Amino acid sequence: KRLILIGPPGSGKGTQSPTIKEEYCLCHLATGDMLRAAVAAKTPLGIKAKESMDKGELVSDDLVIGIIDEAIKKPSCQKGFILDGFPRTVVQAEKLDSMLEKQGTKVDKVLNFDIADSVLEERITGRWIHPASGRSYHTKFAPPKVPGLDDVTGELLIQRKDDNAEVLKSRLEAFHKQTQPVIEYYNKKGLVAQLHAEGSPRDVTSEIKSILSP
Ligand code: AP5
Ligand code: ZN
Repeated sequence: KRLILIGPPGSGKGTQSPTIKEEYCLCHLATGDMLRAAVAAKTPLGIKAKESMDKGELVSDDLVIGIIDEAIKKPSCQKGFILDGFPRTVVQAEKLDSMLEKQGTKVDKVLNFDIADSVLEERITGRWIHPASGRSYHTKFAPPKVPGLDDVTGELLIQRKDDNAEVLKSRLEAFHKQTQPVIEYYNKKGLVAQLHAEGSPRDVTSEIKSILSP
């Protein structure tokens, strides 16, 4: 399957991805994770992306389209993929359609993580991540077994630079202005399934499974 996850910051896209990936053997392409890795490695891409990311603004369409164009051609992504955080503008969505058309494939489903803005600050400010794997934890909702350490590797957890109340405001603004139209774009194609993203992680997972099972 070729899936797209759309939702505001903190809505649970990254949290649900590993389960969907395991269940359906898909490759997980998260543009935010890829960009953060590029920033950490100080690659030319990372250097260009850092300023916008720190401010909570979207990076340019060209940069992210380039990343995805390269990634979806990989052999490991031929059977299907989960796009987490892409497309985020209508231009990106149109470009994705034409990339897939060239491969003779198309998007199967768009999962819309529907959630009120008011619950997102607590989710974002309590999040801790394991940068190497992209695993995320939450001090209250999903605490690691040992505080501050990744359950799998035992390595240190960190907080994202954009995970504070101030930057969250800009990220939400970008979501409503630039990404909400993408939901409309896929709605017209009849591809959108709504998720009640305010539920517990387990409930959201079962909702996803019932949407995706034939
Ligand atoms: P990105 O990394 O994509 O960030 P985001 O969209 O803001 O989404 P988040 O990762 O914050 O949220 P999530 O839904 O994954 O939440 P999670 O599951 O971790 O993008 C970062 C930046 O990169 C952008 O601002 C932009 O600059 C740039 N960028 C990326 N893609 C781009 C693109 N296509 N175009 C242009 N620019 C781009 O959950 C959050 C917390 O809540 C966790 O602590 C988790 O444990 C907890 N939690 C999760 N689910 C639940 C639940 N059901 N109940 C309680 N707690 C929960
Ligand atoms: Zn994420």
